[in-house]
Amino acid sequence: MTDRELLLSVPIFSELTPAELESLARVCSRRQHRKGGVILYEKDPGDTLFVIVSGRVKVGIQGDDGREVILSVIGPGEFFGEMSLLDDEPRSATAVAIEDTELLSLARADFQQVIQGHSSILAGLVRVLSARLRRANSQISTLALLDVYGRVARVLVDMAREEGKRLKDGRISFRRATHQEIANRIGTTRETVTRMLKDLERQHLLEVTPREMIVGADFEKAFEQVTEG
Ligand code: CMP
Repeated sequence: MTDRELLLSVPIFSELTPAELESLARVCSRRQHRKGGVILYEKDPGDTLFVIVSGRVKVGIQGDDGREVILSVIGPGEFFGEMSLLDDEPRSATAVAIEDTELLSLARADFQQVIQGHSSILAGLVRVLSARLRRANSQISTLALLDVYGRVARVLVDMAREEGKRLKDGRISFRRATHQEIANRIGTTRETVTRMLKDLERQHLLEVTPREMIVGADFEKAFEQVTEG
């Protein structure tokens, strides 16, 4: 995919004209990060926006005791690093490549120039920030209101909704997250997640293969019952 095609696939840039996309592509640069590589650190000053070309990026916050909370995992066509460009504050979280990842980066001045002339880009940014706030609200309520079993079920529902692909038999498959990743999303231990997943497998609500997790077509209803206890 060329840089221009990639930018076109990013919803906030989709209303730019071909000439505008071309000039935006000219000021972007590509960079690669190996799996496990840190792209940006929480609290650092930030002057770059990143768009994911391929791979996957984990956005998280490290507690003083070294424990990590995962806020989000994002993939191709999604962007991050916009907050520091918008409010001039340090980076709000750390971003790490969890697969070999290729990014397009856009410097602050170029980002500001492109949003100035285009209210559609600003409107798109506001939409994405609203969606992230909704998701964060849902995470807060999950953490505050559900027991650990319900939280694990909620993470699986979120992943199936956000990353799931429908199989021929109607079931939904999505990336097999590590037990540690799931634990870090919901503030529990890896061992607890392992136990809960085994339980969901025993109830035939979840199948785990080496690379994927699979849930039934009616997973939202089935897992809702789990979260209601
Ligand atoms: P910035 O603060 O510049 O650097 C860290 C980035 O992580 C931030 O911009 C956002 O792009 C992203 N980020 C922070 N919080 C969340 C969240 N709750 N969900 C998704 N992405 C986030």
